[in-house]
Amino acid sequence: MHAVNAGYAKAILFGEHFVVFGLPGIVAGLPLHATARIKKNNQGIFLHCPWHQQPLNVLKNRSASVSKIGRMILAQLRIPFTKRFLIEVRTTIPSNGGLGSSAALSVAITRALSHHFKKNLSDNEINSIAFKCEKIFHQTPSGIDNTAATYGGLFWFQKKKPKNQTKFLHPSKPLPCILVNSGIHGSTKKAVARVRRRKQKNPALFRRLFKEYRRLASDALRALQNGDLSLLGTLMNQNQELLQQIGVSNSTLNKITLSALHEGALGAKITGAGLGGNVLVLASNFREQKKIQHALQRLGYACIPATLH
Ligand code: PMV
Repeated sequence: MHAVNAGYAKAILFGEHFVVFGLPGIVAGLPLHATARIKKNNQGIFLHCPWHQQPLNVLKNRSASVSKIGRMILAQLRIPFTKRFLIEVRTTIPSNGGLGSSAALSVAITRALSHHFKKNLSDNEINSIAFKCEKIFHQTPSGIDNTAATYGGLFWFQKKKPKNQTKFLHPSKPLPCILVNSGIHGSTKKAVARVRRRKQKNPALFRRLFKEYRRLASDALRALQNGDLSLLGTLMNQNQELLQQIGVSNSTLNKITLSALHEGALGAKITGAGLGGNVLVLASNFREQKKIQHALQRLGYACIPATLH
């Protein structure tokens, strides 16, 4: 199923932030991806990604996160820094949108370099390098984004030692969803740090929220397996309430979820780190999916229809 040298975007159905603390999450690959190609260049090692207008000199630029991840991947793959080439990245994934754009970028670059320099890395090796890159981007990632970016598909994820748990799921019905862009850039690093601070300040609240979320995640797994979209929507709404309580929603995101529900959605919640980015909306069928998408577009939000399966 893998496109050559691609890293996939994802939407978290359940459990963003909770996964950072070792609770389970459910995530689905999206039909959006980043791809990378290695091209000739005589001046050194350059990386051109759509976030930067000009190619960055990976060895000389010490500050940009993308050149840091470039150096990290080169070192991991034992590619001599004396080589000369350009890594060109293209992506259809909006950045800072909670859709895993940074992990997809790391996976695409690692795959392209592995392919070009005949390193023959396995998906597991690519995933573990992308996890190291996620640490550069976000400091304390759970591992859910790089896993989704490497493998795609819909799966149950739990951060565990010595090895994260990933169980691929096959929902009995496809999920007609819409991604609704809030138009606000969300920083994963800031959102994760904010949740950690809140947890330190209020451990009792978080104990209660974690307990509620654990129940919700196992109900969601059953609802997916039974193709119970109505229950799944209700659980997404409950997850959104928990996300509000941990402090990663805001008035725009709340307004989008309420508008979607008003238009007949079964469920609507933040997907990804929050404070901006996208809202994931679940419709009861494909006709409703179109109807809700058009209504939200009329309200001025950019939408991407996405059927998760
Ligand atoms: O906003 P994104 O796409 O980077 O998603 C991050 C998901 C979090 O749970 C908030 C962080 C993580 O590492 O799991």
